[in-house]
Amino acid sequence: MNLVVQRINAGFWRGKRVLLTGHTGFKGSWLSLWLQSMGTTLRGIALDPPTIPALFDVARVAEGMEHRIVDIRDFASVKAQFDEFKPEIVIHMAAQPLVRYSYKEPIETYATNVMGTVHVLEAARHAGSVKAVINVTTDKCYENHEWDWGYRENEPMGGHDPYSSSKGCSELVTNAYRRSFLGQSGIAIASVRAGNVIGGGDWSVDRLIPDVLRAFEVNTPVVIRSPHATRPWQHVLEPLRGYLMLAQALYHDPKSYAEGWNFGPNDDDARPVSWIVDQMVGFWPGSSWKLDQSVENPHEANYLKLDISKAKSKLHWRPIWSLSETLSQIVSWHKSWLSGMDMQKASIDEISKYMQSMDTINNG
Ligand SMILES: NC(=O)c1ccc[n+]([C@@H]2O[C@H](COP(=O)([O-])OP(=O)(O)OC[C@H]3O[C@@H](n4cnc5c(N)ncnc54)[C@H](O)[C@@H]3O)[C@@H](O)[C@H]2O)c1
Repeated sequence: MNLVVQRINAGFWRGKRVLLTGHTGFKGSWLSLWLQSMGTTLRGIALDPPTIPALFDVARVAEGMEHRIVDIRDFASVKAQFDEFKPEIVIHMAAQPLVRYSYKEPIETYATNVMGTVHVLEAARHAGSVKAVINVTTDKCYENHEWDWGYRENEPMGGHDPYSSSKGCSELVTNAYRRSFLGQSGIAIASVRAGNVIGGGDWSVDRLIPDVLRAFEVNTPVVIRSPHATRPWQHVLEPLRGYLMLAQALYHDPKSYAEGWNFGPNDDDARPVSWIVDQMVGFWPGSSWKLDQSVENPHEANYLKLDISKAKSKLHWRPIWSLSETLSQIVSWHKSWLSGMDMQKASIDEISKYMQSMDTINNG
């Protein structure tokens, strides 16, 4: 098998006008730092950071970009940003991304994730500058048959809970825009489906790693709801690298890449929650975890595995960091933050380290 992994072309990104929605969020902040480090002319539109603290604030992400607070549920405001900034590339990440919250607030979830997507695509269509659009959805967009094998990009959309279903809808919107408008105007649009991403700087509620780190910090046992639940965990930089490589490909060859793409981990990194927590406890002396049997949880789909063959063969993308390496990076990022380090520098250094791991794989 050819193990060579395609590099990001930093020269491509230098000076490119990129509009990123959701830049104040966890994934958006990492991507903003990465784009900034390559000299991209970057504008972000989003609401205020969704958590306190947030990577966006801790790593001073706003310093290297044009930061705008815009609600994507308001079409006129979204359109004004596109008309003024004239982006060449659009990466749409803004969303209500939490499953449990979506049960409480389905209207907000659909308004943001479905109509918000329509607004972004409609604004891109009329801007007169856009060449490539990437819509970030999720592995949960697929109708989950609880199969043991991986889902391919041509599998039907679905979703049990409002969040998953809203992302399935966002995929359908993407497809309709591709066929009805964007294809004819020469704008290439792709959607990207990744699984659970983890990394330093995520303080979201109801996500495993932030919950674990919060418990470590206050020296209490981590309370785990579903120790046997298996998820396709991967470091946040892995799918982000996929998005960047796909955007490059879309820009140069709009016809061949304008479709859905899976970016998931290798099979052996689909691990149960208990395995993850055991590893993290190992990295944090004095910590422990216990089982919570007291609460009844709303339905969450069982493991859904992504088939990543297409990204491997057509984009020469594949995961670089093992899950163990990823967890150790997260704990070390978090300890750096707790010790008051410059987290903008620490995060950019982590991106460089990740890129070096890729070179090591290619050279070794
Ligand atoms: N984190 C994961 O494990 C994961 C997995 C698969 C897919 N995703 C997808 O990746 C994207 C980013 O996720 P994240 O984990 O960074 O989430 P996040 O909650 O950290 O960030 C969400 C971003 O969306 C913005 N946003 C929300 N509502 C908005 C609105 N009405 N108008 C403008 N901006 C709004 C927020 O301000 C924030 O910038 C989402 O589309 C999510 O569905 C995330």
